[in-house]
Amino acid sequence: MDQSVIIEHFRRYFPGTPRIFTAPGRVNLIGEHTDYNDGFVLPMAIQYRVDIAVLPRTDRLLNIRSGSMDDSISFSLDENTRRRNHWSDYTAGVARMLELAGFFLPGADLLIESTVPVGASLSSSAALEVASGLALLSTVDGHMKPGDLALLAQRAENEFVGMNCGIMDQFISARGEKGHALFLDCRSLDFRQVPLPSDLASIVVCNTMVKHELSGSEYNRRREECEEGVTLLQKTYPEITALRDVSPEKFAKSEEALPEVIRMRCRHVVTEDQRVLNSVKALQAGNMARFGKLMDESHNSLRDYYQVSSPELDIMVELARKIPGCLGARMTGGGFGGCTVNLVNVDAVSGFQNIIQDGYYRETGLTPEIYISAPADGAREIILKPVKDR
Ligand code: GLA
Repeated sequence: MDQSVIIEHFRRYFPGTPRIFTAPGRVNLIGEHTDYNDGFVLPMAIQYRVDIAVLPRTDRLLNIRSGSMDDSISFSLDENTRRRNHWSDYTAGVARMLELAGFFLPGADLLIESTVPVGASLSSSAALEVASGLALLSTVDGHMKPGDLALLAQRAENEFVGMNCGIMDQFISARGEKGHALFLDCRSLDFRQVPLPSDLASIVVCNTMVKHELSGSEYNRRREECEEGVTLLQKTYPEITALRDVSPEKFAKSEEALPEVIRMRCRHVVTEDQRVLNSVKALQAGNMARFGKLMDESHNSLRDYYQVSSPELDIMVELARKIPGCLGARMTGGGFGGCTVNLVNVDAVSGFQNIIQDGYYRETGLTPEIYISAPADGAREIILKPVKDR
């Protein structure tokens, strides 16, 4: 959103001229359900983002208003130990974690504006957490490295909000770079920016407009199944501590010993890590066709072995794969609804959109939203251009 509009919104509710911080949502290109297995991911930041206008107070109150939701909440930081089951929990959780990390916050007026579609697996929550982190840090002139801010935001989501997510979403929101996907090792947090030249292919994101309720409980169940897999595989390979440590070759030698469901879950994770590594190589070689094939394989594995797809996601992927110029199509994010991510030849993008719109509507009765985004920058302060006093 334009900075002058946000300032105007802020001033409608609060006095003063705020600072503005922004953090993007993300689309994960490949590497799904690998982050909490210490594995590899390849997300990119998108142009849809959360902007927060902020000014410090002195009375320890947090006044939080969402422009997009036309809702607000106010509470004291002295009474901020528990979630309230409200959208503000993401900001409140980050405030709590900052205080536990030693930042004594003075209170703040915050106006939040978001363009990240909610419930679409594009990480609207991570964007809100990371933007909140920057905004709240500014009230004490505090700074954190992007990786540390991502970890703090993840802690807020795990411990305050109660969602046991991995590190991918917060990390890409904090660390994204224009024109690049981010290759992240979720164990060491070492990362590399991988150029994604827009003249070679476009990233097209299609929203199924459906999010199934079970996504949270099934997510936690998948995590447990992976942990069980590690415990069982340790009988053969005592040195492993996560599925990340199991190569496809090692897995092939020991998978027979695993119960069927656990075997399927582990197979997905072990092969998905490999697909991420191969994708980085393909992108570096400019081989988009190969990258697209790996995306296809990733979806098939998520559908058949990890079982986190949904009928709507499968319909969307199947439609996409039949369209000339579509190099690869897969679900993105946690699953059970949300979006697909598609790699499409640049000159085929507009035809692709039309066919998806019509085909998906015909099969489901739903009108999909389609987002085209080049890889965007990560979280930062929006430095205000001088605005004339009004
Ligand atoms: C959600 C979580 C991430 C990651 C993905 C699946 O987006 O927040 O940490 O586990 O699901 O890849």
